[in-house]
Formats: sequence, C-alpha cells, structure tokens
Amino acid sequence: MDVKTIMVIGAGQMGSGIAQVCAMAGYDVFLHDISQQQIDKGLANIEKLLSRQVEKGKMTEEEKAATLGRLTPSNDLQNAAKADLVIEAVVENMDVKTKLFAELDQIAPTHTILATNTSSLPITEIAAATKRPEKVIGMHFMNPVPVMKLVEIIRGLATADEVYETIEAITRKLNKVPVEVNDFPGFISNRVLMPMINEAIYALYEGVATKEAIDEVMKLGMNHPMGPLTLADFIGLDTCLYIMETLHEGFGDDKYRPCPLLRKYVKAGWLGRKTGRGFYTYE
Ligand code: CAA
Ligand code: NAD
Repeated sequence: MDVKTIMVIGAGQMGSGIAQVCAMAGYDVFLHDISQQQIDKGLANIEKLLSRQVEKGKMTEEEKAATLGRLTPSNDLQNAAKADLVIEAVVENMDVKTKLFAELDQIAPTHTILATNTSSLPITEIAAATKRPEKVIGMHFMNPVPVMKLVEIIRGLATADEVYETIEAITRKLNKVPVEVNDFPGFISNRVLMPMINEAIYALYEGVATKEAIDEVMKLGMNHPMGPLTLADFIGLDTCLYIMETLHEGFGDDKYRPCPLLRKYVKAGWLGRKTGRGFYTYE
C-alpha cells in the first residue's frame, strides 16, 4: 500500500513526536487536535527539537525547513479525507477513541489505514467501531518518540496481513524497530512496565522509602535511565492510571489494582510533567 500523507490526531507529547518523525521521514503530515493551543505547543516543540538537531550538526537548516514544510496544522477532522494513514494519539479513553474511529471511518477514503497509538486498550474493540476492522491496527510508539527505537505493532483480530506489512515497512522508514505483539491488555510494554511503576507508587504510599530513594534504587541498582516515579511523571499520571485500569479490568486480577495514591494525584490534577506537578514539581 502506498502511503504519502499521514494524519496524526492528538498533538500532545506523543502525537507531536509522531508527527515529527513522520515529517522527518518525508511524509506529508497533518497534525490535528481539538485544541489550537495544543497544536501550537506541539509545533513549537517540534521546531525546538529540530533546531537542536541543526545545532548539533545532525540536520541541515534546509532539512529542517523541508521537514517543517511537510507539517500542516489541522483543526478540521475532514482533512482525514486526504490521508492514506491516520495515527491516533488522543487521550487513553475507549469512548473517546471509538467515537473518533467511527467518525474517521466516515471521512477517510476506503484505502486509508486507521492506526492507534493506544498504550493498552484492545485494538479489536477500537476496530469494531468501524466498518473496516481489517484496516485498523495498533502502532504503539514509545516516549520520547524521536529518541526511542521501538514501535510495538499490534494486530487486532481482523487486521489484514497487508496492513500489518505496510505498517511494519513505514516503521522501518521512520528509522524505528517494529516488534509484533498480540492484542491483549497492555500488550507487552505496559503489561510489564506499568505494574512496576504502580508497585513503586505503592512503596511510596506505604512509606517504604522516599520518592528520591525509590528512584535512586531503580536507577543505580537496575540501570534504568529514569526511576519509576520520574518515569511516571514523564509518561503522565493520567495515562498511567488509565493503563492500570485497563490491565485491572482486562485481566480481572487484583495484582493490577491501581494504587490509591495514583488515583489521588490524578484527581488533584497532578498529572506529572505536562501539568508541572506530579511526584515531583517542574518549571
Ligand atoms: N523529546 C525529544 N528528544 C529528547 C527528549 C524529549 N522529551 N528528551 C531527551 N531527548 C533527546 C536529547 O535531545 C538527546 O538527543 P541527542 O542524542 O540527539 O543529543 C537524547 O535524547 C539524550 O538526551 P539527554 O542526554 O538530555 O538525556 P538522557 O540521556 O537522560 O536521555 C531519555 C533522556 C532518552 C528520556 C532517557 O532518560 C530515557 O530513556 N528515559 C526512559 C524513557 C522510557 O522508558 N520511555 C518509555 C516510556 S513508556 C512508553 O512510552 C509506553 C507507554 O505506552 C506509556
Ligand atoms: P497528551 O495528554 O499529551 O495528549 C493528548 C492530546 O489529545 C491532547 O492534545 C488533547 O487535546 C487531544 N485530544 C483529546 N481528545 C481529542 C479528540 N477527540 N480529537 C483530537 N484531539 C483530541 O497524551 P499523550 O501522552 O500524548 O498520549 C496520547 C496517547 O498515546 C494515549 O492513548 C496514550 O496512552 C498513548 N501513549 C502515551 C505514552 C506516554 O508516555 N505518554 C506512550 C505511548 C503511548
């Protein structure tokens, strides 16, 4: 399948990173969001990251200008009519995603692949909101997108082989490494990562150690680049909670119960880096 134009939906930390790497790889990209502020923020962040690449001699000014020239901001979902591939990266909520996929199914041409960057939600259920489940697939990027090599590719029950192969080829074109995973809650990445983060939050909740100590143990003891509480702030505590809820509901096992402290922080609006406060505070 020939993909030239990609629409990324959601201009948050993941969507802006996905739009950046797609534009860098030569695709024409619409960066869509319901919030103009988020689009502006996303594009400004891409500009900043590309400028840093130029400063470091990893990209020329011309390449930067060409990359930015391939990015078009969008606040009209009808732009999906021009896309060969849509990559959705909105909030981790099944109702929001299924409503969006049903709308996209009406707007996008029949050949268009609808991919989701969901962290944990069933691809099969998202696909069922459309009349083209064979063209729906999970394309799970890692944060920060421009740096992390992995894309977990998840087939829904009905995903066509041709669609899988197209997404695998695009992943390689983005200079990323595809890994195929089946459609189970949290896939592999978050089934393994998120219970560790949740356990670190329990350890803090139970007063086993300070947040700094917990992070230091995992950084120095296990060679993790970030401690689990710093990583949770980086991912977004709302996203962490939604993923734990998906695991808890999907497997029905209490070992996935989200820590009450995580719930409390999310209720307080302390979502981590993106709101300036989570386990730590940020400027
Ligand atoms: N966006 C884009 N680029 C970034 C970045 C960001 N937010 N943060 C750092 N970088 C870039 C820097 O520009 C630098 O690039 P160059 O090599 O070209 O100079 C490079 O990354 C290294 O940065 P630093 O030296 O400043 O910092 P570092 O060595 O501490 O690395 C890090 C930063 C890559 C974020 C590292 O701390 C790390 O790997 N952390 C863990 C990240 C992780 O686990 N991600 C997965 C989260 S889970 C997920 O994504 C799935 C999910 O569904 C929740
Ligand atoms: P974010 O909160 O930074 O951004 C979400 C964006 O979606 C916001 O800009 C919001 O305005 C927009 N949005 C919400 N509803 C929308 C709609 N109906 N139409 C268009 N835009 C809409 O979130 P994020 O961290 O970028 O996460 C986005 C998705 O990526 C989630 O599914 C999340 O689970 C997944 N993900 C997150 C990470 C991570 O580390 N944060 C890693 C991998 C995957």
